[in-house]
Amino acid sequence: MELVTEDNITDLAAARWGTAHDPRTAQLLEALVRHLHAFAREVRLTEAEWMAAIQWLNATGQISDDRREEFILASDVLGLSMLVVQMNNRLDPEATPATVLGPFHIDGSPEREYGGDMSDGLPGTPLYVYGTVRDLDGKAVGGALLDVWQADTDGMYEAQVVTDEARLRAKYRSREDGGYCVRTIAPLGYAIPMDGPVGELIHRTDISHFRPAHVHFLVTVDGHEPLITHLFREGTEYLDSDVVFGVKEPLVVAFQEREPGPTPDGGTSDVPFLVAEYDFVLQPTGRS
Ligand code: BEZ
Ligand code: FE
Repeated sequence: MELVTEDNITDLAAARWGTAHDPRTAQLLEALVRHLHAFAREVRLTEAEWMAAIQWLNATGQISDDRREEFILASDVLGLSMLVVQMNNRLDPEATPATVLGPFHIDGSPEREYGGDMSDGLPGTPLYVYGTVRDLDGKAVGGALLDVWQADTDGMYEAQVVTDEARLRAKYRSREDGGYCVRTIAPLGYAIPMDGPVGELIHRTDISHFRPAHVHFLVTVDGHEPLITHLFREGTEYLDSDVVFGVKEPLVVAFQEREPGPTPDGGTSDVPFLVAEYDFVLQPTGRS
């Protein structure tokens, strides 16, 4: 009989979890045990610290529901989400880079026509984001679905306010020539939710809890890798300190000021507005 000691417990626990029936699950659980034990050994985790961590995890679960994703937020601020995104999206350097999904995407947004206004008259500077969807060879990609979402000018997403309506989110389809046009309002930088366990931890550090102004996109179309990304406003605050490590240079786009007059969707505006031109470049499925 092999009795448990401080020296052998890691091997015993890893071997036990390595019996998971699915080989990949066995690999994941065995490695998880080894890394958790290594962490505890490295920092010589005390019982009080272990209990504090358990309570933090409990609180993170308890505050989460179908509108609040505190575990995603925790993963995001720890840099884990972005690491996983990078390892799993080693795209061609010419392709639009991927970033984190974040906790505020909502399924089932309404579809809008080319240039349709997803801000529905909310206060803010009108912004047109437009361009083409194309592939790595420069060929137009028609029929791509662009699922778009963003925060309002108070930094609030739909999931954070009381509403029955889709708010600052919509789906657009690229035309045959690859063209797309989103009408919205200019996003501002905002603070991530700080009233939960993630905020409580961040308050104990010097970490900036802000994200730079951005609009989220999830672009899908047959034959190409799905793309989860953001476009960030050039020159905006927090680009070099994004709390979720999501900024990549090719995703920083100029928001150019325009006087009242013709808009990118072929209409006219009688107030000043902003335009951001960006071509999404998709990676064909299976090409890495
Ligand atoms: C967001 O941009 O919506 C977001 C992403 C990660 C954490 C918090 C917010
Ligand atoms: Fe966001």
